[in-house]
Amino acid sequence: MKRFDLITPEGTNELIFEDCAVRRGVEERLAKLFTEKGYREVVTPGLEFFDIFNLNSRYFPQESMYKLTDGKGRLLVARPDSTLPIARIAATRLKDSLPLRLFYCQDVYRNNPVMRGKSIEIRQMGIELIGDVEDADMEVIKTAIETLSLCGGEFRIELGDISFFRELMNRLDADEDKKENIRRLIEAKNYPALNDLLDSIGENSITRVLKRLPGLFGGEEVFEKAQELFARELFTDEKTDCFLLNLKEFYHSLVSLGLGGQITVDLGIVNKMHYYTGIVVKGYIRGYGDSVLSGGRYNNLLSEFGSNAPAVGFAVNINAVSKLNKELNGVPSALKEPRPLRIALTKGRLEKDTITLLEKIGYDCSDVRDKGRRLILAIEKKEAQSVIEVVLAKADDVITYVENGVCDMGVVGKDIITERSGKFFELADLGFGRCRLSLAVKKGTDFYKGYNVKTIATKYPNSARAFFEEKSIDVDIVKIEGSVELAPLLNLSDAIVDIVETGSTLRENGLEVIEEISTISARLIVNTVSLKLHQKEIEQLLNSINNEQ
Ligand code: PRP
Repeated sequence: MKRFDLITPEGTNELIFEDCAVRRGVEERLAKLFTEKGYREVVTPGLEFFDIFNLNSRYFPQESMYKLTDGKGRLLVARPDSTLPIARIAATRLKDSLPLRLFYCQDVYRNNPVMRGKSIEIRQMGIELIGDVEDADMEVIKTAIETLSLCGGEFRIELGDISFFRELMNRLDADEDKKENIRRLIEAKNYPALNDLLDSIGENSITRVLKRLPGLFGGEEVFEKAQELFARELFTDEKTDCFLLNLKEFYHSLVSLGLGGQITVDLGIVNKMHYYTGIVVKGYIRGYGDSVLSGGRYNNLLSEFGSNAPAVGFAVNINAVSKLNKELNGVPSALKEPRPLRIALTKGRLEKDTITLLEKIGYDCSDVRDKGRRLILAIEKKEAQSVIEVVLAKADDVITYVENGVCDMGVVGKDIITERSGKFFELADLGFGRCRLSLAVKKGTDFYKGYNVKTIATKYPNSARAFFEEKSIDVDIVKIEGSVELAPLLNLSDAIVDIVETGSTLRENGLEVIEEISTISARLIVNTVSLKLHQKEIEQLLNSINNEQ
């Protein structure tokens, strides 16, 4: 019998001895910093009414929240975020005490996808500066920098301003669904799909600027590129000029404080578009594959609780910082010594074409071609004296390694990306590994006839589910691991959703495609932090790849 009383739920952690000491150390350092700067602590309830997170504001998808009911059967959630409850306190009980400088240290709960190494209970510390305060953005960003410098390790703060994107969206003639798709593609720096979507809307100055937005990241040079782009496409546009000028001045004031080395800019930060209204910030620490700090200006949030005031703040992931601190204390060399860029290649179907591509751009791949059972190999580009590490893995694992930052880049099929989803940048369509995700049946079958719920066999249950949901058709889905074509032949299913390349497997087994769902090819994906910390090397590699295509 399984003993659930002896284990903890997936995504939660017991902290023992030094884990507690390290976490407490981090929290005390940050609490001291915040207190010295005049921020006062608040604690909000661990359980809140569902309505707070899903009534006016729909920033938290309902499937991402843990729910339960109170004594009267009303829906509660385990707090998924601290900013909304703090905005409520500020707009109600503390509304006569503005401006407010508040800080918090508490857990948030997110129903993250299982088996991805993600926590569902995340300790966060953060500050909120609420009310009309001169130079509030500067105060908060400077505090964010000081916060990361107290966290240990090499860090980077990245600034953006969501106003550009909001302004461009206001001017774009497209429905809300399309706008949300554009936002998601810019956030994922998915240039190929973004270009296709914007082309379908039509060519104009707004779509041309939107196409370039995800690429406007890096150092000081970003302002020049953006200025040149806006001047060309938007002519003399006071609004966007003003946003850009403000951000530039802001950046320069930080540089003049000697912080230039740690600050970068990304005009393509467009997360939580309806939540943030101005400056946005992200923080990275080398050795952790996701941002550890995130925040920005949110001037409309308090109005949801009856009285409005401008506000700006950020939160730090204490789980991540504690983990890094523990590693830094225990095995300093692992995090302090830089390693070569690491790329994960999908074994099998895409392997040969990927190796050929790496050879075309100058890498000696003889070791990879003759790898035996070795799984990590170094390859060298002699003329550039550049070495990268190649990891060979199954497609799903390529995504896992890139998402977690243990590999910086990966080559994987679009079928797996759509099926798995995840947080990474999808920088390029590599053009090879072309095939189609298709709905196929035994030849001559009228799939849509009759009222019986049809059974679909597939290696891609999420993509198949999404396809039929889009058509509002109920189906039963059976997950099959390989040779999916067998399922209808053995009468296990009415149809299959599977990839078709040459079509010979279908032909030889008396099956035919009745609908094409999507086209697929190999993609280059990049970890969100690696792109920022190794921008030059990754861009060089990307340019060589683009020149080869
Ligand atoms: C894929 C797919 C089809 C076949 C299609 O399977 O699931 O079975 O290839 O290719 P074709 O159109 O060129 O015939 P894969 O070879 O990857 O192996 P699997 O079925 O064992 O997963």
